[in-house]
Amino acid sequence: MDPYRLPRFARPTRYDLRLEPDLATLSFTGDETVTLEIIEPTAEIVMNAVELKIGEATITGERGDAHRGVATIDEAAERCRIAFPSTLAPGIWRLRLAFTGILNDKLRGFYRSSYKDASGEMRLMAATQFEATDARRAFPCWDEPEFKAVFAVTLVIEPKLTAVSNTAVKDERVAGGRKTVTFADSMKMSTYLVAFIVGELEATEPIPVGPASVRVWCVPGKRRLAAFGHEIAVASLRFFEGYYGLPYPGDKLDLLAIPDFAAGAMENLGAITFRETALLVDERAASHAELERVADVVAHENAHMWFGDLVTMTWWNGIWLNEAFATFMEILAVDAWKPEWQRWTTFGVSRAAALSVDGLHSTRPIEFHVEAPRDADAMFDVLTYEKGASVLRMLEQYLGASVFRDGVREYLRRHAYANADTGDLWAALGRAARQPIPEVMDGWIFQPGYPLVSARLDGRQLVLTQQRFTYLPEPLPGSTPTPRDQAWQVPVQVRVTAGGHSSVERRLLGASESRFDLPDRAGAVLVNEGGHGFYRVRYGSELLERLLGALPDLAPIERFNLVNDAWAVTVAGFMGLGDYLDLTARFRSERDRNVWSILLASFGTLNRLIDSAHRPRLAALVRDRVASVFGELGWTLRPGEDELTRQLRGDLVRVMGVLGDDRAVQAKAAELYRSAADLDPNVLPALIGVLAHAGDGARYDEFLAKFRSATTPQEEQRYLYALAAFQQPSLLSQTLARTINGEFRTQDAPFVARALLMSVYGREAAWEFVKTNWEMMERQYPKAGLRRLAEGVTGLATPELERDVHAFFQARRPEFGGKTLEQYLEQLRIAVRLRERESTALATYLARFA
Ligand code: BES
Ligand code: ZN
Repeated sequence: MDPYRLPRFARPTRYDLRLEPDLATLSFTGDETVTLEIIEPTAEIVMNAVELKIGEATITGERGDAHRGVATIDEAAERCRIAFPSTLAPGIWRLRLAFTGILNDKLRGFYRSSYKDASGEMRLMAATQFEATDARRAFPCWDEPEFKAVFAVTLVIEPKLTAVSNTAVKDERVAGGRKTVTFADSMKMSTYLVAFIVGELEATEPIPVGPASVRVWCVPGKRRLAAFGHEIAVASLRFFEGYYGLPYPGDKLDLLAIPDFAAGAMENLGAITFRETALLVDERAASHAELERVADVVAHENAHMWFGDLVTMTWWNGIWLNEAFATFMEILAVDAWKPEWQRWTTFGVSRAAALSVDGLHSTRPIEFHVEAPRDADAMFDVLTYEKGASVLRMLEQYLGASVFRDGVREYLRRHAYANADTGDLWAALGRAARQPIPEVMDGWIFQPGYPLVSARLDGRQLVLTQQRFTYLPEPLPGSTPTPRDQAWQVPVQVRVTAGGHSSVERRLLGASESRFDLPDRAGAVLVNEGGHGFYRVRYGSELLERLLGALPDLAPIERFNLVNDAWAVTVAGFMGLGDYLDLTARFRSERDRNVWSILLASFGTLNRLIDSAHRPRLAALVRDRVASVFGELGWTLRPGEDELTRQLRGDLVRVMGVLGDDRAVQAKAAELYRSAADLDPNVLPALIGVLAHAGDGARYDEFLAKFRSATTPQEEQRYLYALAAFQQPSLLSQTLARTINGEFRTQDAPFVARALLMSVYGREAAWEFVKTNWEMMERQYPKAGLRRLAEGVTGLATPELERDVHAFFQARRPEFGGKTLEQYLEQLRIAVRLRERESTALATYLARFA
């Protein structure tokens, strides 16, 4: 039997839950009455609990017969067992438990968060984070998504505080120096969606969406930052009601910014929690990227109110049904809200991130076996989110948007207030599309990896074949072998241009080759038309040359994919680095921000591989590629410029000043920063990055002070990461020290440490520091912290460091869950191999920039 699954002989239907948190003693007391259905005779009840003390336990039957039980907690199993003196017969029972626990500082379960008030005084509040398996830290429960129940919550708090939970307040009364807040019954839902937030909170005015009011909450003084998040919250909620064809399932919707928050945000029904950067923003001072982040996260969590909260995956192996869908819907909603943001083009960057991890032998299928809680945690990765959303987009385009939507609507109706799995989704989509979905889709969900589609000419025919794409020819020694002869049903859309006209042909490419007859005088042939496919394309040289000659005819996403795929096959060793660098020269007049992001990312990777002696030449190459577009955009906003162009300006300023190490740009950045004159909000974050890169100790102190006195979450974040972007070792070591001395919030510290591991100036020292302080970090950081930090080892791209990384993890054997560690080590191998293979070619190529 699976030790991580509860026995099924007793099922909860309702929790009447009362909690009394005490911010002075950092603890809470609670009691609950769980209404249960016992299905088989039993003398014990088994449920989940951890870091709780259970006092009294009584169970009462339908006829009023009460039995005293004895509770014992098995901390390792995260369970409690309540033994009764006699057998309980099948039927309805009410189990009453009294318990106590602590408000921990690990950002999970029921935890405390701190912030400074207007007078600089430290204040505390309490919040919850239960996904995946931490509700059991706040109250004993059946903590699996399949055990849906009604929750009736009561919070007993200090009268001056506010309490928020999943549903509307039903009653509030003050007596005996305590305030008792009673909330309405919730819908039937999973334990991981329950939430309580208690503190001195401020809210915006409510905005109604149907019968529900939508509000944004924050700690005192930050309400001025709530309007933008509020606006997208309302817009996306309305959008989803239309798309899903079902009203919002809650009775109200609160969105709360919590100063300490491990993830980005959490979709608790009716009480969505966020880290401050993901909800609160000053619309006039934020960059496009910062605003887009808020819009995305808010829309994403709102999408979950149906996809995840109303219909929930049966078990964590199916978490992609939640997260991939919410990610897909987030883009759909933001795209509908601000079409000018071209969100589906920008989504290419997310798709590229998924293609990158899914090109590893140590990748996993989207749906993947989960037993232990840490394996559930490891599922929240780029494969679940970005690959999952990409294959949904591919399917949506293949079936047609309205057929797809009809299938989604039917799925939600059929499984509302219940659980579902991948097969249920295929069945609903199949009914809408009148065609079997598993044939096409199962390969994408249950197989690891994706195809590389090779395109070549054979006389007047275009020939397409597929094989799995991996960066390395073989898996790393000791890791699981890769399946042989994999194939997918690939929806290909081929666009052929001939004599000024173009036509598109759609087909499913299977395991065997597919031939297309080309018209007379066929010119450019593009295989992934529209760019929605989750695969890479490798063109024969003639086809590639034709495409490069027709770049302006390609959509931005198509140019993006062209560069992204070329870079991937270069890293894999199918294309020479010189050829790739030549290709980048064809993009000097590129104007799309996303295409630039992929070009610049590839230069960034090379920067981590290159010997420091050659770094100035790489900088010269970067300037050569960027100079023309940068010259054209200049430093200042032009009337009528769209937001994406403005964001591109910020990106280019940053790359010129940092990777390009351009002295004139650095000087101009210093001057503009000093004058603080009417800067475009897209340029300011870039200036901060450039000035850190070129900065000295005085600049460091200045930025540290700015970090401490920041007035928006975005400003704080810019200066925080700037502290990892200096070059001088003595300054970087100060930043390192701050990752464990309490100066940075533990929600951020692992990411700062990761940035230092990825910095070519800081990585050696950062690695020594991480090795030395590993246990300390493990104790301080929230549970995903070390996993996030450890991703930084992929930047330690020298053979010596790689060996040391292996030795360290060999000795430590950290348990990140799933395949995380294998993936990091394979990514590191790929980088070192690229260095070993191409460093001579790179040096030769760069000689022209001497
Ligand atoms: N359900 C997740 C939050 C979560 C993540 C809980 C990991 C437990 C473990 C939430 O819906 C989410 O996906 N949040 C994202 C932001 C989103 C916009 C991609 C996050 O936290 O990064
Ligand atoms: Zn999510």
